[in-house]
Amino acid sequence: MKNASRYARGKAIESAETVAAFRAIGCHEKDAGLRNPDRLAEKFLGPRYRLLLRLRHLTRRYAEFAYPGMYWFHLARTRHIDALLNAALDDGVEQVVFLAAGYDSRAYRFSDRLNGKRVFEVDLHGTQERKLECLEKTGVAVPDNLSFVSIDFNKQKLEDVLLAAGFDPRRKTFFNWEGVTYYLPERSVAEVLRFVNTQAAAGSRVAFDYMLQSLVDGDYSSYGSRQVIKGFNKVGEPALFGICAGATEAFLKTHGFRVLSDMGPEELEGSYTKGEEGRTRRVLGCMRVVCAEVERPSRT
Ligand SMILES: C[S@@+](CC[C@H](N)C(=O)[O-])C[C@H]1O[C@@H](n2cnc3c(N)ncnc32)[C@H](O)[C@@H]1O
Repeated sequence: MKNASRYARGKAIESAETVAAFRAIGCHEKDAGLRNPDRLAEKFLGPRYRLLLRLRHLTRRYAEFAYPGMYWFHLARTRHIDALLNAALDDGVEQVVFLAAGYDSRAYRFSDRLNGKRVFEVDLHGTQERKLECLEKTGVAVPDNLSFVSIDFNKQKLEDVLLAAGFDPRRKTFFNWEGVTYYLPERSVAEVLRFVNTQAAAGSRVAFDYMLQSLVDGDYSSYGSRQVIKGFNKVGEPALFGICAGATEAFLKTHGFRVLSDMGPEELEGSYTKGEEGRTRRVLGCMRVVCAEVERPSRT
């Protein structure tokens, strides 16, 4: 009965814990050049994932066998989005929104840099409730400037919940939208981009990872593709959205954005997955990480 009341307004989504587990395991890499910086990720793991973390050498070997490129993609993605957040803060961003935040720990890991800025974590109520329990249990303080905003993207609009929670459209904002777009129908992706473009100040940025459309359409020729799709289907979260190779700038332009960077497998590997001994670990061939800036002046 305890669990029933605890998650009465929805369950925590398991895929959020799975990606936190990748980060937690990555945080134990001996080679500093290959280490995941997310030292808080393991705080969000339940008993099953904690066991996998204890058996991390086996887990990592199995993950690389079953889902080639996935583990290293997660390392590259965490480090790259950390760098994008740092760059946005250097460039004067005053507000940060983590969309479908899951167990993203940047609000806590970057608490010094985020001090004095408004920070929002937006997610399903069930995932947020479990996250808060984990933070409390493991003694991680929730910064005063952080607000948890519950949403079901399939039923609610971002502007309704974020504006009500105190999001300030006049402030230059960094939106992190990591690990999500491929699960959404295109209209939901467009809706989020519309919100950012029309409700956030000019110069605001959005960072997100996305899949190539060819993969959504069934072309499994790139590294790790077939297994990614199999994995998504296994957890009942099929891939719905992708962008055609070479069309990202045009896609984002139609939504009012200018691409600042768009890193594919080669760039991610070159920057983030080269070990001290000089060997490069391959990342998924079908995923990219883009950062784009609101190009049109905002309404405010
Ligand atoms: C794969 S996890 C990614 C979490 C986090 N961004 C990360 O990279 O660690 C997907 C996230 O989307 C959230 N989510 C799934 N469906 C949602 C919905 N309909 N509305 C809001 N959030 C949703 C889940 O709660 C989960 O936190």
